[in-house]
Amino acid sequence: MKTTISVIKADIGSIAGHHVVHPDTMAAANKVLAQAKKDGIIIDYYITNVGDDMELIMTHTRGELDEKVHGTAWEAFKEATKVSKELGLYAAGQDLLSDTFSGNLKGMGPGIAEMEIEERPSEPFVVYMADKTEPGAFNFPQYKMFVDPFNTPGLVIDPTMHEGFKLEILDVYEGESVTLNAPEEIYDILALIGTPSRYVIRRIYRKADGNIGTVTSIERLNLIAGKYVGKDDPVLIVRVQHGFPALGETLEAFSFPYLVPGWMRGSHYGPLMPVSQRDARATRFDGPPRLIGLGFNVKNGKLAGPSDLFDDPAFDETRRLASQIADYMRRHGPFMPHRLEPTEMEYTTLPLVLEKLKPRFKKEEGMVKAKQSIYQKESSEMD
Ligand code: F6R
Ligand code: MG
Ligand code: MG
Repeated sequence: MKTTISVIKADIGSIAGHHVVHPDTMAAANKVLAQAKKDGIIIDYYITNVGDDMELIMTHTRGELDEKVHGTAWEAFKEATKVSKELGLYAAGQDLLSDTFSGNLKGMGPGIAEMEIEERPSEPFVVYMADKTEPGAFNFPQYKMFVDPFNTPGLVIDPTMHEGFKLEILDVYEGESVTLNAPEEIYDILALIGTPSRYVIRRIYRKADGNIGTVTSIERLNLIAGKYVGKDDPVLIVRVQHGFPALGETLEAFSFPYLVPGWMRGSHYGPLMPVSQRDARATRFDGPPRLIGLGFNVKNGKLAGPSDLFDDPAFDETRRLASQIADYMRRHGPFMPHRLEPTEMEYTTLPLVLEKLKPRFKKEEGMVKAKQSIYQKESSEMD
């Protein structure tokens, strides 16, 4: 029997700003998932939230992109949205881009991460979920977990990992993907994934047997919708232990609060702060970007857990450093590099400001016009 783990998430409105999911909306989604479990569509499920994102963690045997499973998630979000609207919550139904469900949720707004696996005798896995950032934010920790021996000694000393992994990298602008080998091609890998707004690690496979190790949600809502409609807060499923990184090796990757885009108005860099479920609320300056990690085991599709992995004093120093970095970044105010570059900002009045000021710009004699504008950063004529 093959088991599929599906994590499907959406922001369907929250209390007092883009801050935290309302329990009544979770209860509405719970009703739908409980019924789907009764009807045998899913085997088990767990509902949680990080900040304003509702996260549906489901297990079943129907494979990826299954119409019934996705339909269940869609209905759960629709029912939750109804409650959200009744309560007058903020940005009710934000991530549901369409009214009609057509087979699966691809391109419809919700973020999706799914993996179909042959369960090992014991199948431990972690679901990492972030708010106020974007899918490429998981490039850095996935590299640490599966490629960097300074993070993951198992790559050196565990014979089942020693051969390395294959990374499937997606170009979210072109809609193309490439699979690269680690450790042989790490410089090529880094050349791509160091631009996380464009190149996103979608899946990682163990080289020895092709077994899947991770999957990330890759939806970039704003690219789909063509305008600002909220942030593409991502999820990452990671299988751990016995041929994959140990649980602690995956957690270690988040011990450094690295900078991610997506804070305040989707337009600022801030440190990714790992927190407990209890603290998964976006407060200061609508953040700082938050991460939770829930650990599970799955057996014949039944879930054991979760364990709230960052609810731990071992991450206090990471959080303290994240707060210091938040102070430091905030003191830049509206200046880059706290504020994102123009091409990556999700709110921007810049074109309007430029339009308004156009008649007031005067030609400067003797100054050569640049060959490209700051809006074409990825062009090959970068030099
Ligand atoms: C960022 C985010 C928030 C909002 C901000 C303004 O991803 O969700 O920081 O961008 O609160 O929200 P609006 O424009 O809805 O008032
Ligand atoms: Mg929101
Ligand atoms: Mg969010």
